[in-house]
Amino acid sequence: MDHFEYRDGVLYAEELPLPRIAEEFGTPCYVYSKATLARHFRAYTEALGSHPHLICYAVKANSNLAVLNLLARLGAGFDIVSVGELERVLTAGGDPARVVFSGVAKQENEMARALSVGIKCFNVESRAELERLDAVARGLDRVAPVSLRVNPDVDAGTHPYISTGLKANKFGIAVDEAREVYRQAAAMDNVRVVGLDCHIGSQLTETAPFLDALDRLLVLLERLREDGIEIEHLDLGGGLGVPYHDERPPQPFDYATALLERLSRWPGSDRLTLLFEPGRSIAANAGVLLTRVEFLKPGETKNFAIVDAAMNDLIRPALYQAWQAILPVDTTQARPSGTYDVVGPVCETGDFLGQDRELAIAAGDLLAVRSAGAYGFVMASNYNSRPRPPEVMVDGDRAHLVRRRERLADLWAGEATLPDDSAETP
Ligand code: LLP
Repeated sequence: MDHFEYRDGVLYAEELPLPRIAEEFGTPCYVYSKATLARHFRAYTEALGSHPHLICYAVKANSNLAVLNLLARLGAGFDIVSVGELERVLTAGGDPARVVFSGVAKQENEMARALSVGIKCFNVESRAELERLDAVARGLDRVAPVSLRVNPDVDAGTHPYISTGLKANKFGIAVDEAREVYRQAAAMDNVRVVGLDCHIGSQLTETAPFLDALDRLLVLLERLREDGIEIEHLDLGGGLGVPYHDERPPQPFDYATALLERLSRWPGSDRLTLLFEPGRSIAANAGVLLTRVEFLKPGETKNFAIVDAAMNDLIRPALYQAWQAILPVDTTQARPSGTYDVVGPVCETGDFLGQDRELAIAAGDLLAVRSAGAYGFVMASNYNSRPRPPEVMVDGDRAHLVRRRERLADLWAGEATLPDDSAETP
């Protein structure tokens, strides 16, 4: 459930009609709903009830400070993958003691900063990374809390680019090797084993692969127990899918209930804190990309609706052939219906937001690309020297500009021309 709905034929974000937002902030523009973000976050915490847990929102999905601040105020932890994400979390008022640090190649400076602010856990992805972390912690006279990210070799059944739990993927430590790496970690002076971690992929639409992964982790936990290694938390990563089109992924409640049920068979499970790292399921359907139709361009084989947003603003359709709903914002005017490819102004054939969409629209109309709250703005670029769009968060009947539109001069801020004496061509 989200808070984008039609009222008398006009699409609203919470209590605000989207045309009013377009008027105030221009297009293209990302629009987020605060109530939807909060609702999606609470769906997790309510599902886990009294079982000890921490929801570490995956910052990569949408790292706007207002989003992070809202989630921090709701009690979220954060899953980060870079020192940039760490600084965002700190700037937004997030608690470092609730931060887990994922990623296959954390740099020494990133480890050092995370150690100095006291994060909850490093999700270590290889033996080499474990050794680097131990050395960095030793240099700072600290002890690094560690989980190993285990690759359980299950097929998440999702897009190959976002499937991460197979042997063939670069992520994590093979489950068969993990016991030995845990022993190595337990023997290190500047590392303390606190958890076990996995993340098998993104946009999963079924619970079964998560349960398969959990089963494999529980076998490993048993082995670790035999080795005298006690784990405090189990981190099952993110990955729960969302309905973009006609997918029917489990709700966080069903997903968490199934996992808790499976976990309850394991002796001592009530003392095992559960961590999740959801990104998409919190943010995707809490945002839309608002864009305006520049021209309708009828053709012999295709009709194009050329809009002012492009692949640089929202790359998912071009990159993954992802389908996201495209809705007319105001349906109160009579319009002829047609089938359109909704394309942007960027000079690439792959620059589309949607293909073969049935739309009743005219030039000048507003469209909303749905499910754009996750992996939307964060993946935007300045390709074609296009300033990135603003981000607006709606709270009831108020709209807050939470990131201003980039200005043209922002495009080359930080660049330099060659000095005069080397500018001459030979
Ligand atoms: N934890 C780890 C270690 C991850 O790698 C990811 C996502 C998450 C959590 C959050 O997963 P989520 O709950 O959002 O599925 N750009 C792609 C998605 C890439 C996901 C990468 N990792 C897309 O637009 O579909």
